[in-house]
Amino acid sequence: MESQRHSSALGLLLLLHVSDVIIQAQNSPPPPRWVNGILGGSALLPLDVTSEHILEIEWRFVSGVIIRLGQFKNRIFNEFNFSTRFHQRLQMYKETTLKVDGLEMRDTGTFDAHITFTTGYLVKQDFHLTVYEPVPTPQISLSPSISDRCNVTLRCLVPAHAAVNVTWIVRAAPAHLHQPSPDPSILQLVLTPSTEEKEYVCVASNPVDTKSISINTSSLCLNKGRSEFAVLCSVYVRHIIFSVFLVLEISAVILVNLL
Ligand SMILES: *[C@@H]1O[C@H](CO)[C@@H](O)[C@H](O)[C@H]1NC(C)=O
Ligand SMILES: *[C@@H]1O[C@H](CO)[C@@H](O)[C@H](O)[C@H]1NC(C)=O
Ligand SMILES: *[C@@H]1O[C@H](CO)[C@@H](O)[C@H](O)[C@H]1NC(C)=O
Ligand SMILES: *[C@@H]1O[C@H](CO)[C@@H](O)[C@H](O)[C@H]1NC(C)=O
Repeated sequence: MESQRHSSALGLLLLLHVSDVIIQAQNSPPPPRWVNGILGGSALLPLDVTSEHILEIEWRFVSGVIIRLGQFKNRIFNEFNFSTRFHQRLQMYKETTLKVDGLEMRDTGTFDAHITFTTGYLVKQDFHLTVYEPVPTPQISLSPSISDRCNVTLRCLVPAHAAVNVTWIVRAAPAHLHQPSPDPSILQLVLTPSTEEKEYVCVASNPVDTKSISINTSSLCLNKGRSEFAVLCSVYVRHIIFSVFLVLEISAVILVNLL
């Protein structure tokens, strides 16, 4: 009685396991994955299967032509062809993850894993890799203010060829952006001397990298005031020096006359 129950439990376990593999292999092939990488960095391509019951995995790269990369079997990854450009850039990591190092722009493409299970079933999983360049640091361009109010246009600029999105954020909420233009790289600000200090951040990003640069309210409009103050100061200093000379001169003249 006792042993019978044990064996039926074992049978159920086995059945679950085998059906697991069959479902994994036949009914629901692993879904494709989209992976982003940065130029010069690494990408991880993790298979959605468990390492149990896998006999071998063959990896291919498809981008116009098909390059057979290598085979993972008995815990060892063997490259098929040492003269492909992937030579020494591939390794299997945790048995079911392919790691691609030293990413190049032309590695953008599809990596296919052809997985053979010990049961003989074969499934394929696709990884669509996109390699992005690092984001260039954006620059802020600033149109001169025209009226007594400080009405400035800020542009968040990146080199024209850069495939990045740019936007503005205000550090120190509440955000209060005047953006009449649908172009997110342009920020129109109307500031008054009483405008509280804020930091405007121009952000450039792609899915793998972000760079930013910021400018403060105080450096936008008070610049004009400050430089006027500086000019006034230097005029004032010149006046003082002139006065001192004048006083010295007069004293000298008086002294000479007295002697
Ligand atoms: C090995 O790779 C080179 C360069 O990609 C290719 O010309 C050659 O046909 C490949 N050899 C095999 C056996 O796949
Ligand atoms: C600010 O300047 C822009 C362009 O010079 C103009 O279209 C806009 O009406 C000005 N806004 C204010 C509030 O002065
Ligand atoms: C830019 O933003 C859009 C919308 O959020 C997104 O679909 C696109 O992938 C982004 N492009 C880059 C280079 O980040
Ligand atoms: C703007 O002001 C903040 C706080 O006063 C300061 O930490 C930051 O460095 C300033 N940024 C610039 C670009 O001057």
